Amino acid sequence: MKHILVVDDDAAVRRTLEMHLVRRGYAVETAADGPAGVEKGSSEEVDLVLLDLRLPKMDGFEVLRELKLRRPTLPVVVITAYDDMQTAIEAIRLGALDHLGKPLDLDELADVLEKAAEMVDLSRSSFDLCDTPDTPFQPHLIVGRSRAMKRVFKAIGAVADSPATVLLHGESGTGKELVARAIHFNSRLKARPFITVTCSALAPTLLESELFGHEKGAFTGAYQAKPGKFELAQGGTLFLDEVSEVSPDIQVKLLRFLQEREFERVGGVHTIRADVRVLAATNRDLAAMMAAGTFRQDLYYRLRVVSIELPPLRERREDIPLLVKFFLEKIRREMGPTVEAVSQAAMDRIQEHSWPGNVRELENALRRAVLLSPGSVLVPEALQLERSGEGTPLPLLLQSLEEMERRHIENILTFTAWDKTRAARILNISRPTLNKRIREFGIQRAAR
Ligand SMILES: Nc1ncnc2c1ncn2[C@@H]1O[C@H](COP(=O)(O)OP(=O)(O)OP(=O)(O)O)[C@@H](O)[C@H]1O
Ligand SMILES: [Mg+2]
Repeated sequence: MKHILVVDDDAAVRRTLEMHLVRRGYAVETAADGPAGVEKGSSEEVDLVLLDLRLPKMDGFEVLRELKLRRPTLPVVVITAYDDMQTAIEAIRLGALDHLGKPLDLDELADVLEKAAEMVDLSRSSFDLCDTPDTPFQPHLIVGRSRAMKRVFKAIGAVADSPATVLLHGESGTGKELVARAIHFNSRLKARPFITVTCSALAPTLLESELFGHEKGAFTGAYQAKPGKFELAQGGTLFLDEVSEVSPDIQVKLLRFLQEREFERVGGVHTIRADVRVLAATNRDLAAMMAAGTFRQDLYYRLRVVSIELPPLRERREDIPLLVKFFLEKIRREMGPTVEAVSQAAMDRIQEHSWPGNVRELENALRRAVLLSPGSVLVPEALQLERSGEGTPLPLLLQSLEEMERRHIENILTFTAWDKTRAARILNISRPTLNKRIREFGIQRAAR
């Protein structure tokens, strides 16, 4: 972050800022009106723009909009009269990184520049979504470049065209269903049905009828005969999700199907044949369940003719930046313009987190963070990730509200390394209010 463009119609402001910034080691360029600002800001050389909103010829909002169209990830800091909250909100909505009040507080400016320097510019960073940059975005892409994921891709390719039953094993949220789909849609059966049954979602009797169908009058409420999912999947793939939850009776019927490709509907006498490829998934240790006698051994071996292990996210952290970029793109396509960059601090938090809910948890955390991030930069507070070891209830402290407030402000300032702009934002108070509290409470920065 070296090259700053200052756009302001006031020559005195331009000169003061230029002197100040040059002294701090930045290269500075200036523009006195909107069109000049757009032209200079479009150059790839400029790393950040300080933009006055009240400008002749073309107002600051228009300049901001135009710059964001041309260079979506360019950080723009707008300068507004301090009491003009509405303007500031609008500027942030249009993608400004932050806003500064007039008259300029140079400490505050330094904070903002530091923050901008921390940004991970997604468009310039080295990771790419796909190996070939022009590949269009595919929502069902299985993202990953780690060795563990490459093994999974190879396995998918190897089993896709075989009729073999495949068992997918992995923790919750590791992508088992995604892989099941990939197997089907890369196979010769891709034009045929792909049907999913979540075995844990239904009580045993209902699950049996769901899978194998029933005849009229088979049980109370069976007013009509109904085909099961095995019949509906004829010629295609049936994906049995959470297969560990199947009752012993149904385990027997499944085993028979896998051996003979035959079954009867509930209450039925006719044997039905179906040509269906079976994929199954579980996040439980089926071998242990088999040893404990809750899962049939013969069924276990029939299901895992081939098995694919989905690695947990914490064991392939090198895929995380790729996934972050993928999901931000996915979210942008659903919700329109959102964040354009991830702060370095946020990326660090994401990289450190243990992700017990794996890729699903990451996607959900990003969705939340996009909504909670104040500007176009995803900030760590918005991620709301529990640090490991947190989550234990705080001990009850017998202290006054005032004492709590003081400590809380102190903690937040420590957390933000005395970045007062960020601290005020987290505390949801204005910067002047924060300064007032700091003075009132006599809070001081700890010596380093
Ligand atoms: N490698 C990946 N690339 C992109 N998206 C992924 C990847 N892995 C998982 N996802 C996404 O994460 C979410 C969870 O994946 P999926 O439903 O396949 O997990 P699962 O292993 O079936 O989890 P569960 O055991 O909880 O059912 C889905 O939205 C899926 O699209
Ligand atoms: Mg699943």
